[in-house]
Amino acid sequence: MPPKPGIHPQKDAFIHAMPAYLQSIKAAGMKWVSGFPENPKRGLPYISGLLILNDTETGFPTCVMDCTWITAKRTGAATAVATGHLAREDSKVVGILGCGVQGRSNLEALLVVRRSLEEVRAYDVSKQALDRYVEEMTAMHGLKVVAAASPREAVEGCDIVVSAGPILKHPSPVIEASWFKDGVFACPLDFDSYWKPEAVHSVHKFITDDREQLAYYKTQGYFTDIPEVYADLAEIVSGKKAGRESSGERIMSMNLGLAIEDMATAMLVYEKAKKAKVGTKLPL
Ligand SMILES: NC(=O)c1ccc[n+]([C@@H]2O[C@H](COP(=O)([O-])OP(=O)(O)OC[C@H]3O[C@@H](n4cnc5c(N)ncnc54)[C@H](O)[C@@H]3O)[C@@H](O)[C@H]2O)c1
Repeated sequence: MPPKPGIHPQKDAFIHAMPAYLQSIKAAGMKWVSGFPENPKRGLPYISGLLILNDTETGFPTCVMDCTWITAKRTGAATAVATGHLAREDSKVVGILGCGVQGRSNLEALLVVRRSLEEVRAYDVSKQALDRYVEEMTAMHGLKVVAAASPREAVEGCDIVVSAGPILKHPSPVIEASWFKDGVFACPLDFDSYWKPEAVHSVHKFITDDREQLAYYKTQGYFTDIPEVYADLAEIVSGKKAGRESSGERIMSMNLGLAIEDMATAMLVYEKAKKAKVGTKLPL
């Protein structure tokens, strides 16, 4: 899985090529995904794109599918994997900043690994998006979901914080180190757009989902002020490096998104679709 290269037709917009090959399940393919921050003003989703699977013997494309559902679910799943290893077992309050697609899928996945969660503090710059989120998530999960009046209210006192606003190349971050308590686990999905450098530097363990990809993004002008990487997620999951070692540790996992997650999920979708005999045969 090479680090994802991107093109940027608009300010802070991206179209990323995300190829990956997973030998063990014979999955090969590429996600071609875009994120355009002005889209919501047009009534369009921020993220859109396609995913192509290829046959590993012949290289022939076997399937073309939408990639938005996969992007939502696998990103939430990655947050959940990180949370399982890095958040406190007794986490009760989660802060969600950015109440869109990821704000929903991440909460859904978090509840799988932390049944102890009792309260969600949600924040969004759009009051309409926030109100809808509070109503939907309360009905769906039966938790206490509180609308936070500021980013600070969605961070202070939380055991887990997920930020899912837009990715900005030259961000004006607002989250301060003093806002989060000892023992917190933070999972930014919007790179370092929401987190002040002093906040990122104040964590005891700075983790990422793939060191190489993070290093690549640095060469592209992102992540100008971040601490040294303690481990990547694979090192934590495989036990090569320790995850949470004490209840007071502040830990951050900077998950940039991995193409292997997309391909693994796409294979499940493809197999299920074949079994259900859905889909359209395309002439090639
Ligand atoms: N790291 C990953 O693996 C990964 C994967 C997918 C998406 N993402 C990123 O996650 C973010 C969210 O994606 P999405 O599909 O949920 O988008 P979305 O458009 O569905 O939701 C984004 C929400 O953030 C809100 N918002 C905008 N600016 C904000 C701010 N400053 N504070 C709080 N809320 C704000 C918007 O009103 C909207 O409700 C994007 O930055 C996207 O690139 C990361």
